[in-house]
Amino acid sequence: KQLLVIDTDAGLDDAQAILMALAAPHVEVVGITTVSGNVNSKQVSKNVLRLLKAVNKLEIPVYTSSERTITGWQKPDDYNYHGYDGFGDVPDDDPPDFNLIQSKHGVQALIDLSKQYPGKITLVALGPLTNLSLVIRLDPTFGERLKSCFIMGGNYKGEGNITPSAEFNFYTDPEAAHIVLSDLGCPITLVCWELCLEHSFPWTWHKELFDLDTDIAKFMKNLEKNTIENFYQKQNFENYELADQLAVAAAINPKIILKSSEVYCVVETKGTYTTGQVVVDWKNKLKEKPNVTIITSIDKICIKNLILDAMKLK
Ligand code: BDR
Ligand code: CA
Repeated sequence: KQLLVIDTDAGLDDAQAILMALAAPHVEVVGITTVSGNVNSKQVSKNVLRLLKAVNKLEIPVYTSSERTITGWQKPDDYNYHGYDGFGDVPDDDPPDFNLIQSKHGVQALIDLSKQYPGKITLVALGPLTNLSLVIRLDPTFGERLKSCFIMGGNYKGEGNITPSAEFNFYTDPEAAHIVLSDLGCPITLVCWELCLEHSFPWTWHKELFDLDTDIAKFMKNLEKNTIENFYQKQNFENYELADQLAVAAAINPKIILKSSEVYCVVETKGTYTTGQVVVDWKNKLKEKPNVTIITSIDKICIKNLILDAMKLK
């Protein structure tokens, strides 16, 4: 089986992405580490347990990590795209046992998992890169023990979602993103914001997926209700936007990557307007070797089918 470790700030798109991995028959998720982003890491761990309970997978270990990013940035209090609790602010009538959250720190868990399965783990990062950067500084050989790493974050045409020029995960912890792209030491594939915008779903697809008569589709639809009303409907979004789903899809099924470029890039950590933006050296002016593969086109129908499989999980 393909072994996956998921680092997440779940988050509703993270939740769908995790379900996609759980639904893939050739994949085994051996651990989930949580990172502060959409909400703080403790709350993310609770969200992940809630999700795992919904699909009877509470045996997967979940690890909490640091509250703060590398330089201590904290999300503005009014940020509620995924709800103030990261899961749509929908009360849970039958919560999981939160004692199931592992006592080991997520950063240590990442190191230990890489030693337990050397060369076997595909790491999928769906939130700010705080944990990965801390791992690298604690154990610089970490990346050598990974098979590969797929990251949702950054941009390659300067388009942002949290600022005009930066994507949320990289903006939230740009120093961490910079460290990971410079020093991880295993093949890195980036799913950037522009890829997500160019592969959003028509609303008919959204309906097909989340109006399914399954418990998990109903669960996800219920969590997403507030985001759909408060953001998509109020602002008349033409399409349904995905993000983390694309990173898991590419990680578990690389054949669906239609176009990609190997390039050298760095993350701007201190721009007046550009903090968190990815600077891509398309013309190799810096004469550096490529450090990432940026996906520029991906098979949308395959992604839809992977979500469809996820919405049939029991
Ligand atoms: C990213 O930011 C978060 O809100 C999403 O979960 C995704 O990881 C998109 O920019
Ligand atoms: Ca996320």
